[in-house]
Amino acid sequence: MEKEEDIIKKQEERETMKIPCGMARANILTSTVSGGVPVYFGTGVSPVNSPAQFFVAWGEEVLTGGLIPTCNSDCPEQGVLWFADEGEAGARYEQVLQALGEPEAGLVVPAAEINETAPLILVTGAAGKTGRAVIKSLVRCGLPVRAFVRGEHQLETVKSLGARETVSGDLESPDDYLKALAGVQAVYHICPNVHPREKDIGLVAIEAARKANVSRFVYHSVLHPQTEKMPHHWQKLRVEEMLFESGLNFTILQPAVYMQNILGSRESMVKEGVYRVPYPVDTRLSLVDLEDVAESAATVLKDPGHDRAIYELAGQEAPTQAEIASAIAGATGCQVRAEQVSVDSWRRQARASGLGEYQIETLIKMFHYYARYGLRGNSNLLAWLLGRPPTTLTTFLAGELSEGRGT
Ligand SMILES: NC(=O)c1ccc[n+]([C@@H]2O[C@H](COP(=O)([O-])OP(=O)(O)OC[C@H]3O[C@@H](n4cnc5c(N)ncnc54)[C@H](OP(=O)(O)O)[C@@H]3O)[C@@H](O)[C@H]2O)c1
Repeated sequence: MEKEEDIIKKQEERETMKIPCGMARANILTSTVSGGVPVYFGTGVSPVNSPAQFFVAWGEEVLTGGLIPTCNSDCPEQGVLWFADEGEAGARYEQVLQALGEPEAGLVVPAAEINETAPLILVTGAAGKTGRAVIKSLVRCGLPVRAFVRGEHQLETVKSLGARETVSGDLESPDDYLKALAGVQAVYHICPNVHPREKDIGLVAIEAARKANVSRFVYHSVLHPQTEKMPHHWQKLRVEEMLFESGLNFTILQPAVYMQNILGSRESMVKEGVYRVPYPVDTRLSLVDLEDVAESAATVLKDPGHDRAIYELAGQEAPTQAEIASAIAGATGCQVRAEQVSVDSWRRQARASGLGEYQIETLIKMFHYYARYGLRGNSNLLAWLLGRPPTTLTTFLAGELSEGRGT
């Protein structure tokens, strides 16, 4: 006969295993057990979109989810977290309530187990696209994170991702950066995208890190920072140069264009069947899944041996824009074609959406560069860091765009 404590232990292990992913784990509110099957009730935050309202997971299966359809590509550990549409969600939730009654509140499943002795890591730009992915990845590895955001309103976002500590301030302020570093051992420095003063912010970060005596400085750079024709790449090269001269133990990650950027035009892709880009459709760009980048960020921070390393992070493919459109068509089952829009029309739209003039003109320089040369890297280093082949575009799009998800 199995001892009661063994049964309880097994039950606990099962519950722990069933917790869907690092992201949702932080948000699971209650769990209960019915006939040996753990049932979880909680709020889920969609990794890509906005927060879903709730989800119910029953054993292996997530039965129902909230109002916003989303995907599971951010949840590689379990592969079952998905969200139904509102009608289905309500109906399935009712079924669960009828079968089990209201979930008992009180059994709070702890957030990811953070190793309290691991070095505290400051992540800057924490509420942005990259910052959120990096925080989730670090938390998934049990690493304690202090998230540096610009505004108080962003604090909840980063807390919900599992950041242990939060701080708000201005990255351009040496005082704010230094305060954010108090008690921190490592920094993951992310500069806001296409920032006119990235070099100055880099200097603030490096000086503060030196004063605070941090033991690791990881810089989120970009693929081919050496390209002077793209000012935002060139500024990153200057920051890299300052790091060489700083005396800090640094690691530099140079990611290619994120696959996630494709999803910015999700609506026109799916509704109109057009994937629009402001450069020729035969332009080849290396792509990388931001999740692979975030996983690499955690690897270089948790494992030894990455001091003074510079890693180019690109996926295996460098598809043309027409090939990307075909891949989107394959994932959605809809006809999708690539179409080049003029730079002028892109500029008008960018202005209308409120993008700043520096960003607009810098991105236009980037489009001209892409049109003339493309932007292609090599995937060997990323594969080595991940210990597996990088995520392919087909796999990424299947997770993001397959029927009923994220559209
Ligand atoms: N997208 C790509 O394909 C790609 C590829 C390779 C590398 N990268 C690099 O990745 C980096 C991050 O890009 P991202 O798209 O994740 O950035 P993002 O979404 O623009 O996020 C930047 C974050 O920084 C915050 N911020 C802005 N100014 C600040 C200030 N003065 N003080 C404190 N916080 C401030 C922003 O807050 P607000 O929301 O309040 O503005 C935002 O939360 C960039 O350096 C980019 O070059 C991107």
